[in-house]
Amino acid sequence: MRIAFFDSGIGGISVLHEAMKQLPHEDFLYFADTLHVPYGTKSKEEVLTFVKECVETIHKEEVKALVIACNTATSIAITELRKLYDMPIIGMEPAVKPALEMNRSSGKRVLVFATPLTLKESKYRDLVSRIDDTGMVDSLPLPELVEYCEQFQVEGQSIVAYFQAKLSEYDLSSYGTVVLGCTHYPFYRRILRTILPGHIQIVDGSAGTVNRLIQLLEHRSQLRGEGRGDLKFMCSSHDEAYIQKLERALHLFQEVGV
Ligand code: SIN
Repeated sequence: MRIAFFDSGIGGISVLHEAMKQLPHEDFLYFADTLHVPYGTKSKEEVLTFVKECVETIHKEEVKALVIACNTATSIAITELRKLYDMPIIGMEPAVKPALEMNRSSGKRVLVFATPLTLKESKYRDLVSRIDDTGMVDSLPLPELVEYCEQFQVEGQSIVAYFQAKLSEYDLSSYGTVVLGCTHYPFYRRILRTILPGHIQIVDGSAGTVNRLIQLLEHRSQLRGEGRGDLKFMCSSHDEAYIQKLERALHLFQEVGV
């Protein structure tokens, strides 16, 4: 049985990449909701409907676990999905906790990049109020970035100018870590390295999610220890051109995201 990954578009490739690295013997299914990407600028009700429709299709493929490789979809739908299905369902969490720990001794701040919907949702706000007792976390919505990413606009002068404009009001010397709280954003890791001051670390939630996936499958004795894993792509628009785009996105991520 395959391990399924779900995202609105190409962003979840950043998490799939980590899973393929750590679990080379597994078969994967990657499903993108091409009919409705991007999620982060839509309403909560719309996103919940879209996610439930897609997960119902994925479930018919008889997968052994599902990774919601999208921060926005996780915030909106994971609680309900876990009630509906028996399989392990793992979501994304912005890596705010590790980021705060990294800066404990330096006293530097943490800046979280995410979609407007993720930042508005109680899942994110509850997480921050639970762990940020000294008010060290700031959040920056980047509503346009998912669409740029979907068009493979991940580098170049216009992207540099976009980040510079978004960051112009921030005193970056006071920050120690930037958290990428949307799975599309790790595609900007290489360009961000050239824009952010060298002392700022960039973190995302991929490794944490994949570690949790491994734990759950280990517990169920469902990890595969041998064989060459494979990868199947699907999308809600059944669009062959987008399937090819997903394949290219995996190659692009290997260049700009790691
Ligand atoms: C989106 O589709 O706008 C968001 C993806 C994410 O939050 O990871």
